[in-house]
Amino acid sequence: MLTSRRRLLSGVLLGSTAALLPIGARAASVRVETLLSQMTLPEKAGQLSCFNDEIRPVGAVFNPVIDPRGGDAMLADIRAGRIGMLFNGYGVAGARRAQEAALTSRLRIPLAFAADVLHGCRTIFPIPLAEAAAFDPDLSRRAARAVAVETTAGGIHWTFAPMVDVARDQRWGRVAEGAGEDVLLNQLLAAARVEGFQGPDLTRADALLATPKHFVGYGAVRGGMEYAAVDMSGAELRETFLPPFTAAFAAGAGATMASFTDFGGVPVSANRPLLTDMLRGELRFDGVCVSDYDADRELIAHGVAADEADAARLAILAGIDMSMQSGLFVRHLPALVAEGRVPLGAVDQAVRRVLTLKERLGLFDDPFRSIDRRAERRETGSVAIKQVAREVATRSIVLLRNDGGLLPLPRAGKRIALIGPFGADRANLNGPWSFAGDAGDGIDIATGLRAILDDPALLVVEAGSAIGESLPGGIERALVAARGADIVLLAIGEGADMSGEGNSRTDIIVPAAQQALAEAVAAVGKPIVVLLRHGRALALTGAVRDAPALLATWFLGEQTGPAIADILFGKVEPTGRLPVSFPIASGQQPWSYDRRSTGRPAPDSDPMTPGRSHWRDAPDQALYPFGSGMGYTRFALSALRLPGTVAAGAAVPISVLVRNIGTRTGSALIRLDVHDRVASRTRPIRQMKAFARVTLAAGAEARVALTIVGDALALIASDGTRQIEPGRFDCWISAGDETEIGGSFEVR
Ligand code: BGC
Repeated sequence: MLTSRRRLLSGVLLGSTAALLPIGARAASVRVETLLSQMTLPEKAGQLSCFNDEIRPVGAVFNPVIDPRGGDAMLADIRAGRIGMLFNGYGVAGARRAQEAALTSRLRIPLAFAADVLHGCRTIFPIPLAEAAAFDPDLSRRAARAVAVETTAGGIHWTFAPMVDVARDQRWGRVAEGAGEDVLLNQLLAAARVEGFQGPDLTRADALLATPKHFVGYGAVRGGMEYAAVDMSGAELRETFLPPFTAAFAAGAGATMASFTDFGGVPVSANRPLLTDMLRGELRFDGVCVSDYDADRELIAHGVAADEADAARLAILAGIDMSMQSGLFVRHLPALVAEGRVPLGAVDQAVRRVLTLKERLGLFDDPFRSIDRRAERRETGSVAIKQVAREVATRSIVLLRNDGGLLPLPRAGKRIALIGPFGADRANLNGPWSFAGDAGDGIDIATGLRAILDDPALLVVEAGSAIGESLPGGIERALVAARGADIVLLAIGEGADMSGEGNSRTDIIVPAAQQALAEAVAAVGKPIVVLLRHGRALALTGAVRDAPALLATWFLGEQTGPAIADILFGKVEPTGRLPVSFPIASGQQPWSYDRRSTGRPAPDSDPMTPGRSHWRDAPDQALYPFGSGMGYTRFALSALRLPGTVAAGAAVPISVLVRNIGTRTGSALIRLDVHDRVASRTRPIRQMKAFARVTLAAGAEARVALTIVGDALALIASDGTRQIEPGRFDCWISAGDETEIGGSFEVR
């Protein structure tokens, strides 16, 4: 009944109430409007304020502690109606205490509980960047669903995820949280993750409200430095950074989070053109926009707000509905309204959105939804979620090099030395934002290998080095292990705290102590398989770059050991592809495979041609560009079919014959890239427009069809509008690094 009334009001037949509301607003339900009419200003400001949960805190969240008050004071504030939402708490028992307190407040408005569940709550999955390597929206949807079931069973309704910031600068630590450098992959995974988290019905006890973040452009921080300023053209914003948000909103995301960065001189938390004109007007988003942590108060440090009251005023007027952790809204909004510095309508509109969100979650009908001890016991660390976590972990691994078919390894008869700080380590399996996960629950590489080897005694494990510094006698012991082995597995790379928020790096290399270990071990002359651990693309050098076999294994979470073992010994075919380009050198950043041409591009055949675009010491190329990765078989492509001419806006059907020319069953990722030859604005030299997966037995063949959707050929023209310009488009279909077939078509 209420839903149908809202639908009517949000449709073409906008009633008079809706017509009076600000851009993008729709009238709320009778229940919400009635409640709003009963609320005092302080109660309204309370609903617009959220705080780190001190009633049921979890150990390791990234944020600095700001204004702690303790659990009892927090319960008192909840009873007084001064808090609308708590975040980053975990567990049903504490959730019940907090919700009971909320139900003794004057208007009995229930709390919502949110958390930074980026890649798992208790059961930790691969970091989102790793999962993106599967290039599989359906897998991401299933993973997000499994995570939602476990998370909601722990008394949480809302996640601050997915992170959908396109990331083209690998120095930026938060690359780990998203889907990498490509726009289409970001769009598809943003939508899939939102659908998975939220499920079919937001009122269900296992529905987890999604928050695509950080609106918008955070991934383009200058120099890749955390929290730095962002400045970009409108076309760049619309072509690269906005599409994943559009996709997430179209998938029904109920909230978004404003970025804390400066955007073109106006920090996003105070940026009305972005948070109101664009978010509400252009994108028609009608969910809740929550600030980032303390971001409204940070307007003072940015130098655009004079004091805390001024910061609160700027934030609410820009379009922030809910203030996170600073307490600025609850402290200052009542006076700001009384003094006429903030119109009551702005506060009411934000309250309307927050209450509507709670209503959409079913909290008014059942404030204790997702607070059920039996569900908590049943779903936490269940067999079902562990299976999905393992599937995602194996699908995340990318085989980048395999000279002479060194992999897969035989399960018997070989002496294996597992060398490096991550061989037997459990503390660094999860990576950043592993919320309520316990590092001790994870399965390390050595344990995973022993479980699969016919004779586990043939495995020798030696750290050789710590993550950031050498170990006394470490290299010597590693050399003994290497000399006694037939094969060396080198488990090296970044520690869990080297990527993620606040962990930008200027030099994205394997730490020097581990590089020294790799050089010494390589000199022994045994075949080396590098098992790289990382939260971003790295610039590999020396013995690590030159090892005959290389697996990108990211932070795979709790199922690290079994997943790596499955791939190493060929129980599972490696099917991951890089969602970020591995550069030749750190100084190439930012860099992406779909960069635009310069006026003096260097030819691929001679990328260091004098006078052409390159660095003095590196070409304008990647060591392993976006999409790199192979399996244990090979594919051949032939018989490309594509139309000669298509009408602008029409779908372009393309197909190709794929044949497995190896000796094992394998899965090919067939990818289609496009280049617009002549346009009014410069275009990417190539950009992925579609992909599909096909699994074929040895010798088998299939025709794979890919469709470029009509709008995918559009560009943002100089006047800011989206247009498809007629002309010739080149296209390439590939099945991995060397296998590529090309053609072109004309758009009328
Ligand atoms: C991060 C957000 C996160 C928030 C709450 C901030 O530091 O930027 O992504 O959701 O903290 O924990």
